Amino acid sequence: MTAQFSIVIIDQNKVSRESILSTLRGYSDSITLAGSVEHFTSNASAAQTQAPNVVFLGVENVQQGIEDIRALTARCPRASVIACSSEKNVEGFLALMRAGAVEYLLRPVDQDELKQSLLKASRFLSAAPEVAAPSGEIITLYNPIGGMGTTTIAVNLAAALADGGTKVALVDLNLEAGDVNTFLNVNPTYTLGSVTTNIERLDANFLMSVMTRHSSGPYILTEPLDVDEAVSITPEQVQRVMELLRRIFRYVIVDCVGQLGGCNLSIFRSSNLVLFTTTLSLPTLKNTKRYLSAMAAKGFGGDRVKLVVNRHLPKSDIQLKDAEKVLGMQVYQAIPNEYADVVASINKGMPLVKLLPRSPVSKAIQSLAERVKG
Ligand SMILES: Nc1ncnc2c1ncn2[C@@H]1O[C@H](COP(=O)(O)OP(=O)(O)OP(=O)(O)O)[C@@H](O)[C@H]1O
Ligand SMILES: [Mg+2]
Repeated sequence: MTAQFSIVIIDQNKVSRESILSTLRGYSDSITLAGSVEHFTSNASAAQTQAPNVVFLGVENVQQGIEDIRALTARCPRASVIACSSEKNVEGFLALMRAGAVEYLLRPVDQDELKQSLLKASRFLSAAPEVAAPSGEIITLYNPIGGMGTTTIAVNLAAALADGGTKVALVDLNLEAGDVNTFLNVNPTYTLGSVTTNIERLDANFLMSVMTRHSSGPYILTEPLDVDEAVSITPEQVQRVMELLRRIFRYVIVDCVGQLGGCNLSIFRSSNLVLFTTTLSLPTLKNTKRYLSAMAAKGFGGDRVKLVVNRHLPKSDIQLKDAEKVLGMQVYQAIPNEYADVVASINKGMPLVKLLPRSPVSKAIQSLAERVKG
């Protein structure tokens, strides 16, 4: 561990406290023990003045643990709380993580696990992301009704833009039923809900620590697992997360569905570009026209909104030029209909641009990525 760490231990279980202390002694060159006490209250002010990087918090009772974690993270927003408990119940564990703990150690604390959790916390410290002036571009893929391939395009565009090491975030803001997890075959411990329930701690370090990098390149932030948590996310919280993402990443790709209101308006306000996804069928085009004019009336029109036609068949009854005429707008990018390729990519949990770069869909996405960069 290279970073100099300051640590506070709050644990009424003497055995657990001693075991943590004995492991920490091995790192005395890089760790400063700022305090070791039995109860949270007795060390509340000490923790605050010492501004520790890590707090080991013993949890005897989940409810009390949740309150302590919330109070700790409010007082010391930069501290990573590692909860130590005998609680084996998954619900209890999840509740502590949701309250803001970054790691969970089951008692009796295993020395290796403890080292791993410290290493993880030290990586967050040493890999402190650079926070630049807001210069990243937010590109939102949107269709109000769904089923147009919005997630397919978002996941592939993010992977295409991340090629060559460009820093890209992929954010699932389809709060009611997100799919990014499934498309990339990931099961992140932390979600957008971990950010919004700890919004007062929000900074670049914290945000990066809850995002997972997918092997296809982008860092992902998905919708909350818990439906109640998703409902309680506010437009202001979404805006704060967006503005911080813009400072960390070169491109932020957002998967967005649902009505023209609430959090979605926050997303549009933050977006440099909204790619409205549609297909060439009469009912879809009718709805697309309705929504594009409603968006324009709310100030989301002009150059910031572009049309992406998915599942395009060159021989379809409705041609691209017909759609352009009806909608009074040029098609920015058409993406061909290749069901077998797209389904194979979803089933393998890997974006098509990585799995089958020569597929016509991959080529169209590459060209969309070039347009976006241009
Ligand atoms: N270019 C394409 N060619 C063929 N099939 C496609 C294409 N794009 C998407 N699909 C198919 O359409 C289905 C829906 O795609 P996707 O989940 O990306 O849409 P969505 O708009 O995000 O839907 P939801 O409303 O569920 O969020 C997928 O199962 C996929 O197989
Ligand atoms: Mg979707």
